[in-house]
Amino acid sequence: MKFSYVNPTTIHFGRGQISRITSSIPAGRKVLLAYGGGSIKKNGVYDQVSEALTGHEWLEFSGIEPNPTKETLDKAVDIVKREGIDFVLAVGGGSVIDGAKYIVAAALYDGDGWDIMTGAYKFDTAVDLGCVLTIPATGSESNSAAVITKAATQDKLSFMNRAVQPKFAVLDPDVMKTLPERQLVNGIVDAWVHICEQYLTLPHGAMVQDGYAEALLRNLLKLGREYEQRDSDAWREGLMFTANQALNGMIGAGVPQDWATHMIGHELTALYGVDHARSLAIVQPSLLRNQLSKKKAKLEQMGRNVFGLADSPDLAEKTVDAIEAFFHSLDVATQLTEHEGDKTRAIDAVVVQLEKHGMKALGEHRAVTLDESRKILEQAVA
Ligand code: NZQ
Ligand code: ZN
Repeated sequence: MKFSYVNPTTIHFGRGQISRITSSIPAGRKVLLAYGGGSIKKNGVYDQVSEALTGHEWLEFSGIEPNPTKETLDKAVDIVKREGIDFVLAVGGGSVIDGAKYIVAAALYDGDGWDIMTGAYKFDTAVDLGCVLTIPATGSESNSAAVITKAATQDKLSFMNRAVQPKFAVLDPDVMKTLPERQLVNGIVDAWVHICEQYLTLPHGAMVQDGYAEALLRNLLKLGREYEQRDSDAWREGLMFTANQALNGMIGAGVPQDWATHMIGHELTALYGVDHARSLAIVQPSLLRNQLSKKKAKLEQMGRNVFGLADSPDLAEKTVDAIEAFFHSLDVATQLTEHEGDKTRAIDAVVVQLEKHGMKALGEHRAVTLDESRKILEQAVA
């Protein structure tokens, strides 16, 4: 095990913490408040943010869509450049925060912002970013990753760069009160799969990362089983901090990682508009069954330590069944149905996109080839 680890994002956790924005953005900065389709205007978050920004000069940019597109974000990039913005405050879910990461990077670049996604633009500085999280799910609030879509070509690509990591993130569980059930459940599923992508690989003896990953998985299982308590402060706090810890770099430090479920899932979202988390629930059980022999030891460990299953020759299979049953208990489907019926065409379309995006050898063993992805999809497409 060998790694360097830092998470430089200051977390302001708890009810009423939105007011922390005032002191977290240096005086004299010109701020762009970036948000989505308007949920923050209906639940009082916008008002709290405006109040906190009273002492700063600020402008706003709205309309960042779920699965944010370069086409929309480039309009905000123009504003940042034109108005001399030197701090972007993202208020929203993963889409708004990811979108803001693209904005702060592209704002210091004269070329096409899409070069960030292809790697053609290499950079180590960006405009400063802070955020207020309104949906616990992606972990984007305190990591350096972003996933952006080019609508014109249905490409959904990710990038990671330290320069775009938020300086601070406000995690006020009260903002979750207005989340539609669908988004709340999406948060549980996305965080779950994030942990699995970093944990369900091969035995490596990293006790801290494994132990913490298992604790976070047990939290999510408990939150799902106690879903009827979702209107309590404790339930909201539990989900918000668990989802944050699931993808802030800690459990992934120095260990093998998978991410094949995410890469295949991103193509389902780009082609068929499936919610990010739901794309993962469609892919993960089939992928785990496909990769069972390679993941057997970790699946068995998860079966024992997360689900409390007894030892048996088919413990790994039973663990995958338990994961699938967990998704079903949340009323989340594990089969793709949004592809308008033609199964073969849907699978072909995803495989073509995977190939185009260089996703030809995914997973911790690089064993999820295009052929294996096809087999996984054959299992996963209804
Ligand atoms: O746009 P508004 O009106 O705000 O509505 C949003 C949106 O429609 C709504 N919403 C958010 N907070 C709300 C609320 N509605 C009521 N009350 C609130 N408090 O929820 C809808 C979905 O929001 P979105 O930001 O799209 O959800 P999520 O946080 O799940 O983000 C998904 C995006 O993050 C990417 C995904 O690919 C996807 O594009 N990911 C980013 C990652 C990262 N940066 O590390 C990792 C993830 O694996 C993921 O790929
Ligand atoms: Zn995810």
